[in-house]
Amino acid sequence: HGYFTYDPGFLATGSCESSITFIDGAEGVLLHRGFPIDELARDASYLEVCHMLLHGDAPNKEEYEEFENTIKRHTMVHEQIHMFFHGFRNDAHPMAMLNGTVGAMSSFYHSDLDVSNFDMRVRCAHRLIAKMPTLVAMCYKYNIGQPFVYPRNDLSYAANFLNMMFSVPAEDYKISPAVERAMDRIFTLHADHEQNASTSTVRLAGSSGANPYACIAAGVASLWGPAHGGANEACLNMLEEIGSVDRIPEFINRAKDKNDPFRLMGFGHRVYKNHDPRATVMRESCHEVLKELNVQDPLLDVAMELERIALEDPYFAEKKLFPNVDFYSGIVLKAIGIPTNMFTCIFALSRTVGWISHWHEMMSDPAQKIGRPRQLYTGHTQRKYTPIK
Ligand code: CMC
Repeated sequence: HGYFTYDPGFLATGSCESSITFIDGAEGVLLHRGFPIDELARDASYLEVCHMLLHGDAPNKEEYEEFENTIKRHTMVHEQIHMFFHGFRNDAHPMAMLNGTVGAMSSFYHSDLDVSNFDMRVRCAHRLIAKMPTLVAMCYKYNIGQPFVYPRNDLSYAANFLNMMFSVPAEDYKISPAVERAMDRIFTLHADHEQNASTSTVRLAGSSGANPYACIAAGVASLWGPAHGGANEACLNMLEEIGSVDRIPEFINRAKDKNDPFRLMGFGHRVYKNHDPRATVMRESCHEVLKELNVQDPLLDVAMELERIALEDPYFAEKKLFPNVDFYSGIVLKAIGIPTNMFTCIFALSRTVGWISHWHEMMSDPAQKIGRPRQLYTGHTQRKYTPIK
């Protein structure tokens, strides 16, 4: 009692027990419910992965169909959320709108707010997984001044999202199977990553018994920063700023300069001190998508050369800095036609299942306690107060 460990940034603190996701950072291993991420990204659909994360195991065919139907039943958002959007400036950052609208869901779905009830928690998780694509697409449509597109339940999860993003009343968006697959794979690769900053934020917010929509809004807020989910947007902006391979050494030197705050975006990870297995799949996927869509993007050449030079540089080798999942994801999203300022919303959409699965796991634990870290106080010692008057 009275003693605690000082661990800023929680480098050596395990905050909970969890059976959802396993990471071995030294070996570059990522497993969801025991299944390797590369196998999931190759052969499973995102909704299968959602089932695993939330319900504990891979679904069989019947379970999958039931899960998919349940998610599809919940894709529409309350009509008043459409009105709610109109309070935003139309040049608002989509993450600002997403943060606000996810939080506002607690004012629309009151019946989900009994967080001690298992079935209510599951229903709320289903609602969130189902409605996030709708909200994210609405953020985009609101930004560009087009009417919102209602969800279509005859389409797959990824195809429905693409349809809500890119259809206009005059013309339905033609979904290419390659794009649908690439979108689904991006969702899968971002679905969960154990106790990262945003998931820990969701758990900490939820540990007080706060409602799940407010907790997920807290997760969205934490994800937004460039050191976390904002890295995909920052990475593409960086590749664009570099522009051509001959400028790479200048940026590598900046990243190594202690007096320059610049970092190579999409490089480094708190846990992976080896290749990020998600980055390996994303790199392959990037080549595949660009080939199938017949897109020649000079940014891919910049990215590949940057990766090559950085991996040969002793600075990056010594600090064990490798490309992370966001290094190549931006190029894929750009090829699909998604604007850069939407990238972090796509990450939030994908990670919602991870956040809510962790929240549900935490709330199901009878030993669950409010999260309450301590501090090392560095302020004044006790002194006498003199009234201002
Ligand atoms: N470029 C240049 N130097 C770097 C980079 C980088 N991208 N990342 C870390 N370093 C250096 C850093 O300067 C420090 O050097 P020193 O020991 O001399 O002070 C050392 O490597 C360790 O860095 P750190 O900040 O103490 O490491 P961390 O574990 O706290 O940070 C990180 C991890 C991801 C925040 C960091 O690597 C970073 O800022 N990367 C760029 C942003 C990025 O790509 N983030 C996405 C992470 S993956 C997606 C997600 O899960 O959100």
